[in-house]
Amino acid sequence: MKLLSFLLLILIVFSCTTKQGNQPNKLYSKQAVEATNGMVATAHPLASEVGAQILRQGGNAFDAAVAVQFALAVVYPRAGNIAGGGFAVYRKADGEKGSLDFREKAPLASAFDMYLDEDENVIPKLSTFGILSVGVPGSVDGMIELHKKLGSLPFDVLIQPAMELAENGFKLTEIEANKLNYYQKDFLKANDSLTYFYNGENWKTGDYIFLPELAHTLKLIRDKGRSGFYEGKIAQAMIAEMQPKGGIITQADFDAYKSIWRNTVEGQYKEYNVISMPPPSSGGIALLQLLKGSEAFDFKIFGHNSAESIHIMTELERRVYADRATYLGDPDFYDVPVNMLLDSSYLASRFSDISLDKKTDSKDIKEGEVEIIESVETTHFSIVDKDQNAIGITTTLNGNFGSKVFVEKAGFFLNNEMDDFSVKTGVPNQFGLVGAEANAIAPEKRMLSSMTPTILEKEGKLLMVVGSPGGATIITAVYQTILNVIEHDMDMQQAVNASKTHHQWLPDRVLYEKNGLDSLVLQQLEVLGHTLEPRTAIGKMDAVLILSDGTMQGGADPRGDDTAVGLK
Ligand code: GLY
Repeated sequence: MKLLSFLLLILIVFSCTTKQGNQPNKLYSKQAVEATNGMVATAHPLASEVGAQILRQGGNAFDAAVAVQFALAVVYPRAGNIAGGGFAVYRKADGEKGSLDFREKAPLASAFDMYLDEDENVIPKLSTFGILSVGVPGSVDGMIELHKKLGSLPFDVLIQPAMELAENGFKLTEIEANKLNYYQKDFLKANDSLTYFYNGENWKTGDYIFLPELAHTLKLIRDKGRSGFYEGKIAQAMIAEMQPKGGIITQADFDAYKSIWRNTVEGQYKEYNVISMPPPSSGGIALLQLLKGSEAFDFKIFGHNSAESIHIMTELERRVYADRATYLGDPDFYDVPVNMLLDSSYLASRFSDISLDKKTDSKDIKEGEVEIIESVETTHFSIVDKDQNAIGITTTLNGNFGSKVFVEKAGFFLNNEMDDFSVKTGVPNQFGLVGAEANAIAPEKRMLSSMTPTILEKEGKLLMVVGSPGGATIITAVYQTILNVIEHDMDMQQAVNASKTHHQWLPDRVLYEKNGLDSLVLQQLEVLGHTLEPRTAIGKMDAVLILSDGTMQGGADPRGDDTAVGLK
């Protein structure tokens, strides 16, 4: 009887609403930028303009990417960086593809239990704030490698715009002024002196920031390459900032750092070839699992952001994130079962118990008590040049302004990427974690990431470059943006604008963007058993779509200052 009334309730709720169909949500109405000779979409208008300028000078997409990475380190210092890390996925015009891992590494003196007290409890904030949260930075080595392999213009041309922005100053946008104000107290706490970014919560739109020390650091990188950063004055400045406060990074860490070219992970979603980032990012594998799982469902019929769509996406995500927590880590330290995770019979059985009528409890998927606690910051940019060379880079300091430690003598913030390790995993089973050693801390290991720079091909041709910041929400934001284009017929900007949802196995709740879903849809999801929780924003995408006539469509997220600049 109880079951009968429950089913009746579902029927009533579902029948008294029309599907939202292919309606991008009403939160944002930004229009796509279109061009035919190149597209640069980044988190900041000045960085997008730098990338476009490099393309106008005859540089390729990879040149533009190097220039954008350095420009973001100046104008977007809460995530753009030279003392962080990231991942690049590229596809050359001739179809060759690959990925570059310039993720930070754990210092040589790190240990699996370095954030635990004698009772094996996590010491609050030690892995997120201040000196001990810093991983060995990878971005400078990454950009030099990227330029060496794929660049066409001289390196000094690519770093010049960033140097000029640092030296001549740049204006704060409203969003960035507010972010700086928000973190003033943290800056004070983490630094003995702060000449450039402290202003007692008085930052205003249009205020100029000048960073002469950063300009000098960039000059050293220009003139000396990798050793301009990892040796000499700048390396010494970083060590001098960290060592007196108990920091463990030494010159040996800088000497040992190397970015790594890796084979991409690739798989089919219907007639599309999806190329993404392999471990130590979880992004590519999780995205492919989600897309593979989606093939069994008709999202076109469900309709965009209908309760059915969100329910099925949630159920897929619940299972994929449980796998992520168990199996993924740095492949140089842990045998990640990539083939198993992407095997079609494994996936068929993994998703076989998904029901249209009710949610699954996360505890029935897998026992565990851990939350994925990655920060929601980071930044992504997508670039395509006139020949359709394409690159997506997601790069990060982890939290906003990373560890909040600013190397005053060199002009940049240090990351707090160590927090992306499972800091509790040195004590197996105590927290109910299964296979948690995959992402345990070890000297020189790379921490697991969710960054998902991704490229799609259709019929052997470039179709899309896409990615997002957002910690654990990166993967689900990229997944939905792809479905929005392929299944819900949105253009690139509509797909980016559209409101997103997120589930990550634990905690067992669906995040959704405030005012982004119809109230009836929320009700229907509750009837299916889901717990719902609003968020201000999910994802902050910068993406490029190539239409069948070769037109490039840029989608830059209205949730930030993100800007797409096209070359006509
Ligand atoms: N720090 C965010 C990530 O790597 O996913």
